[in-house]
Amino acid sequence: MARSYRDRSRELAHILDSALVRIEPLNDPTPEMIVKMVRESPGSRAKIKPCLTDMDEIDHLVIATPVWSHTIPPYTREYLSQLRNCSGKKFSVLVEMGRIGAESTIAAVREILEGNGMTFVASASTIEDDVEAKQFHETIEQFSTKILSG
Ligand SMILES: Cc1cc2nc3c(=O)[nH]c(=O)nc-3n(C[C@H](O)[C@H](O)[C@H](O)COP(=O)(O)O)c2cc1C
Repeated sequence: MARSYRDRSRELAHILDSALVRIEPLNDPTPEMIVKMVRESPGSRAKIKPCLTDMDEIDHLVIATPVWSHTIPPYTREYLSQLRNCSGKKFSVLVEMGRIGAESTIAAVREILEGNGMTFVASASTIEDDVEAKQFHETIEQFSTKILSG
């Protein structure tokens, strides 16, 4: 799962000729910890390793995130909360899901980033089974075109 998700983010970064910043948990969660996080604290945040969060160094932020319980995982939420110098910057959103929850997940990202004064450009979603079957190239290409023309 994780490898296929990275594949499609890599492909997107390659097409956009952009740097890929990975959002990584500070501590690898056990399956039990994940269940606890999702069940007890929807909308919660969890610690991540230090990474690029200063939007002064980013022209157009593309958030690529899985869907967890119809919304963003605590790690993505923490990353978004750490972003600085957001005002006036553009962003786009790519979500990967098992089956359902893309729209509410994209909406969660938009609520946070538009609240920080950023401008939404484009969104897209992929389904895990399609990504596993390597059937995601067209979606990524169409998404890239929207980002580049945004
Ligand atoms: C805790 C948890 C909650 C999830 N909730 C949803 C969900 O609400 N809807 C959905 O379609 N998939 C859900 N999934 C499946 C993931 O979105 C899917 O496996 C995705 O491909 C994971 O990407 P990743 O391998 O990069 O983490 C969930 C997975 C986990 C681990």
